[in-house]
Amino acid sequence: MSSNGVARPVLVAVAWPYASGSRHLGHLAGAYLPADVFARFQRRVGNRVLMVSGSDVHGTPITVRADADGVTPNDIVDRYHAEFVDNWERLGISWDRYTSTGTDNHAAVTHDIFLRLLGKGHIDKRTSDQYYDEEAERFLPDRYIEGTCPHCDYTEARGDQCESCGRTLDPEELINPRSKITGSEPVPRQTEHFFLRLSDFQESLGDWLDSREGWRAHVLNFSKGWIEEGLQDRAITRDLDWGIDVPVDDLGPGKRIYVWFEAVIGYLSATKEWATDQDDPEAWRDWWENPDARSVYFIGKDNIPFHTIIWPAMLQGYGGLNLPTDVPANQYVTFRGGKASASRGVGLTIDEGLDLFEPDALRYALAASLPEQSDTELTVNEIARRINEELVATWGNLVNRVLSMVHGTCGGVVPPVGERARNDTALLADVDAALERVAAHIDRVELRAGLQSGMAAAAAVNAYLNATEPWKAARDDPERARVILGTALSAVNGIRVCLSPYLPFSNAALDGILGPVEGWCRTEVEPGRPIERPSPLFAKVDPTTLDGLVDDEPG
Ligand code: MF3
Ligand code: ZN
Repeated sequence: MSSNGVARPVLVAVAWPYASGSRHLGHLAGAYLPADVFARFQRRVGNRVLMVSGSDVHGTPITVRADADGVTPNDIVDRYHAEFVDNWERLGISWDRYTSTGTDNHAAVTHDIFLRLLGKGHIDKRTSDQYYDEEAERFLPDRYIEGTCPHCDYTEARGDQCESCGRTLDPEELINPRSKITGSEPVPRQTEHFFLRLSDFQESLGDWLDSREGWRAHVLNFSKGWIEEGLQDRAITRDLDWGIDVPVDDLGPGKRIYVWFEAVIGYLSATKEWATDQDDPEAWRDWWENPDARSVYFIGKDNIPFHTIIWPAMLQGYGGLNLPTDVPANQYVTFRGGKASASRGVGLTIDEGLDLFEPDALRYALAASLPEQSDTELTVNEIARRINEELVATWGNLVNRVLSMVHGTCGGVVPPVGERARNDTALLADVDAALERVAAHIDRVELRAGLQSGMAAAAAVNAYLNATEPWKAARDDPERARVILGTALSAVNGIRVCLSPYLPFSNAALDGILGPVEGWCRTEVEPGRPIERPSPLFAKVDPTTLDGLVDDEPG
């Protein structure tokens, strides 16, 4: 809600994963989990949320992988798109639309943007040198070329990006370039391409970035750094036969639109696809044209320039569409010092993580370690420790304890509210304050801090129970015991709302036990409601099940 209580359109735009290999826990912590926590919160406070993404099915990440496996790009895309859809389902990632860049709709929206930018003179055609493999007799775009990163000396850097330091690269910047196909030394050869005239937007993007408020410092500094270096025009087509075709035929065959030019357009095309599917084809406008709409982009730091420079430039050039409100990019989750990366095979895949841990437990441990300000080291043992010592010990046990006592000492039903004493109302005031604190944190995309505030409230209820000792009161003063337990139950009912964006599965289980709660508030559980003997909300992780996993491998 805005401050005047009016529902706002909120676009939750999430990085489109390349359908070229399994996604890892680092990707989950980098983009998908934070987006889902944010979206679930925004829905609960009554905003009109549209959370969109899809599989990124084009470009050399796909073709290189298909070559390596000896299959077609389509085979690769189908395999990983299906895997991602299954990942999201198991994790409870609550998409409004999860699609792919392989749709006719996406190609049409891409063509519209390309042609408008061309018509306005922001795209032009140029001849330039590109690396060519004389043995394979073909050009070597992006990931077909490897070499040493000029920034960090990593020797396996690729023509589009260095996996080690995350910098965006152009193939010409690589030291000792070599062809990924034949290993030979590539030679420059002339070829024609369309270029996006980023330099047209030097001023307007600088002004726009200067007007951003509340952005993470690392995102703003990185983006302003690009502007200060002077924006370079960039080729937005490639010598490749896999991708969206160029909507004007004067480049001839064998050319496609560059994957990064079209993938970012997916945010808009997915919104349009959603609207068409609602039988309300104009409904997308509310998220893209309404000046009150917010658009928040959830990405990893390696994607920053595409979301804070290139996509905003495309939007400014196109005209009439909202630029990002915020791009709260995350840093990296590192497993034993190496970035959790699909292409280097470091860390657990999402499937592997879900085979080891319950979805809410995994969500908890990752949310508690989100790399919001700096790279964050993670190990499976640390995930297990957070689950056992924090989630189970503080929250799971509290719920179990309160439900068991209500079941055992209140005749198996929720007691009436009764006469609450000062310490009872003080506890509930704490919980209500926690609801406010968590809301403020999540709304600012400080998701780690939001989770901590919710868990601190759970710890306060544990302390309240230790101080009020309802198990003793049950013998000496049963009426007082019922008031204490009713108070604790009300506190639990508020805290679960605080945690619901992070822990959707256990919150749904509590809906069944305590009755559903809608909105962002604490409500009294209805007196007289039967409470069964509870089973634990979360299972403890048995550390021996983790023996021999990535932690134990030499770094
Ligand atoms: N496919 C890219 C990656 O996995 C992310 C693309 S985000 C988009 O790093 F906005 F361009 F789609
Ligand atoms: Zn590097």
